[in-house]
Amino acid sequence: MNRPVLKIKRVQDVGIKSGSVVLVRVDYNVPMKDGKVKDDTRVRETEKTIKYLITRDAKIVLIAHLGRPKGKIESKYSLKPVVEVVESIMGTKVHFAQDCIGEKRAEIINNMKNGEIVLCENLRFHEEEEKNDESFARELAKGCDYFVQDAFGAIHRAHASTSAITKYLPSSAGFLLQKELEYLEKIMSNPPRPFIAVIGGAKVSDKIDVLYSLIDRVDVLIIGGAMAYTFLKAQDVNIGKSLVEDDKIEEAKKIILKAFKNNVELLLPSDHLIVKEIDSSAKTENTQSMAIPDDWIGVDIGERSIAIFSEKIMTAKTIFWNGPMGIFETPPFARGTFEVAKAIAKTTKNGALSVLGGGDTLNAIKAGGISKEEFSHCSTGGGASLEFIEGKILPGLSALSE
Ligand code: 3PG
Repeated sequence: MNRPVLKIKRVQDVGIKSGSVVLVRVDYNVPMKDGKVKDDTRVRETEKTIKYLITRDAKIVLIAHLGRPKGKIESKYSLKPVVEVVESIMGTKVHFAQDCIGEKRAEIINNMKNGEIVLCENLRFHEEEEKNDESFARELAKGCDYFVQDAFGAIHRAHASTSAITKYLPSSAGFLLQKELEYLEKIMSNPPRPFIAVIGGAKVSDKIDVLYSLIDRVDVLIIGGAMAYTFLKAQDVNIGKSLVEDDKIEEAKKIILKAFKNNVELLLPSDHLIVKEIDSSAKTENTQSMAIPDDWIGVDIGERSIAIFSEKIMTAKTIFWNGPMGIFETPPFARGTFEVAKAIAKTTKNGALSVLGGGDTLNAIKAGGISKEEFSHCSTGGGASLEFIEGKILPGLSALSE
């Protein structure tokens, strides 16, 4: 399948100079707890772009969203708590603008020194943001000289700060966006083979398009997580009381057939960790076969599946992984996910290219104490990386393209 080649300018090529006011769209949609940032990964990932702009002596105007406040101002969605995190990572003064547009923001920009940052309040406090409203985009652009897109995680949204904005300022991609595209493009076009995709998570419905796209590209497709039960039921395997999407059984059958026609090796779990109730203290059993007895629930892949999946993963030259193998948030049900993660890390160490996508996948490696550095690339975008792999044209990318 041919993908359109998008020509996108890079931040390092647009001639940003001392005193330039640079509007940067970042994805600081970070997890919060009690008004504090719980995980600063997404801020750290923008360090290269922001520090580059600091060295250019530019004034940096950061715009971002947090949660889905739907055009209403709600304090729990304020970006204010992110200010101190940005300040400590970027090592420069960070101002806060209580509105992402308007006079007050303009005043802060005028008064701040070169090399300083202003972080603007949540874009989604204005309903115009999600409507991709042009006059709102014009307001965002006001007083700025350049636009830099570094919010890979929001690139699949056609919003004012990802799409319309590029009409009003010379626009380019920041270093994070460049890195994301480089790795995702590598696995989409001419990946070293064998190419193995490991797809997990709860629902087939979330992954249908990505499964179809991958079946046209991979040599082996490994399916784990609760979505595997729908695939097993589609082949008349008993799955007890495990999670299933009955309305996706026909779709699962089509995917199995397509894998067969494309000569893609499709691996489903051949055994499972099962319980009678989903509770960390519940008694667990490992099934003897693919089937799950009545009254039992599958919560993770079983020992034999771990061995088979790991052995197969070790043969890969390219790996894409999205979605856990079981309910890893409950420690007794996490082994399958952690072992798959370790196998991917080991294969990466042996020279394979590995790309991980999706918030759950990254949470899983974190829970397993496995460092992100053990993989070639961990995408900061869940939905965005999946839509990219699905082969969709992402609105934020086409808006940036020349
Ligand atoms: C994400 O967290 O995946 C991105 O920030 C996009 O957020 P959204 O799904 O609310 O648009």
